Amino acid sequence: MTAQRIYDTVADDFTRVNDLIIRRLTSDVPLVEKIAQYIIESGGKRLRPLLVLLSAKALNYDRDDHLKLAAVIEFLHTATLLHDDVVDTSDLRRGRSTANAKWGNAPSVLVGDFLYARAFEMMVELKSLPIMDVLSHATAVIAEGEVLQLMNVKNPDVSEEQYMTVIHNKTAMLFEAASHSGALLCGASDDQESALRDYGKHLGLAFQLVDDVLDYRGDADAMGKNVGDDLAEGKPTLPLIYAMAHSTEAGRTLIRQAIRKGGLDDLPRILELVEQSGALEYTMNRARTEAETARNLLAGLEPSPYKEALELLTELAVARVN
Ligand code: IPE
Ligand code: IPE
Ligand code: MG
Ligand code: MG
Repeated sequence: MTAQRIYDTVADDFTRVNDLIIRRLTSDVPLVEKIAQYIIESGGKRLRPLLVLLSAKALNYDRDDHLKLAAVIEFLHTATLLHDDVVDTSDLRRGRSTANAKWGNAPSVLVGDFLYARAFEMMVELKSLPIMDVLSHATAVIAEGEVLQLMNVKNPDVSEEQYMTVIHNKTAMLFEAASHSGALLCGASDDQESALRDYGKHLGLAFQLVDDVLDYRGDADAMGKNVGDDLAEGKPTLPLIYAMAHSTEAGRTLIRQAIRKGGLDDLPRILELVEQSGALEYTMNRARTEAETARNLLAGLEPSPYKEALELLTELAVARVN
């Protein structure tokens, strides 16, 4: 299985990152620790820490700071998820009730803040201004992406280009920051640095495009989050944007209304229109193109098991959908 092969490449480091993550969640305030542990220990694929480890190892990194950097990135990611589930009023994450469903919005937002802050404390310990620059910038861009998306909610006139900006900001930016900061840790050459940075960006774009397909075609049990959430929120993701442009007038009107209203009343009809228009294939093809671009960016790296794992990761990103 591809995923296992990728994780196996850095299995020991991966375990050490998980230990570090748990160790650094401690807080004197019991509820902070409880909520933070709840979401962190419910799993998640740990893709972004994996990206840090593989990027550093692909450039022959031989010290231990990549472990801390990987933990920092997972904390940033988890903070965005706590906030995102409040904003999206989601009630399922990683196969469990979301923190907001269990404890309410206020503690979720505040513990999200705690995780951001803990991430920055640990980042300072790395004593690298270039890494702080990349990660603090990424954190700001992610927040901007979430706000931009919020402004697009229930708006059927969002263009494909506007959608791409949102997914670049909210998702690809952290993948990019993961591989970029991993490269910075090892004193990469300019070429290596920009190749790994852009690799992360294109991988992240592929990943979110696929995620948006899965929201129409996925399996809630396998994903650990609900299908149809995007439509319920009135989110104009690429499958809907494409379906609107490639349906009959009646179909287009129905989709526009569904986006304006939100909710799941029209889900069966919308699913039909999305399927008929070829929107999921189109979105998957865009994802495959991004994954291919990511893969090609690795061409200049020395052959190694880590480089191979990074290549496999581009396949895995688009293999989540059949
Ligand atoms: C979820 O990311 C947020 C998106 C960018 C779609 P992941 O799918 O990587 O979430 P976990 O960490 O594995 O739960
Ligand atoms: C997740 O966006 C991106 C961030 C957490 C910043 P989504 O809202 O599309 O992802 P899911 O579906 O909740 O995982
Ligand atoms: Mg969400
Ligand atoms: Mg969201």
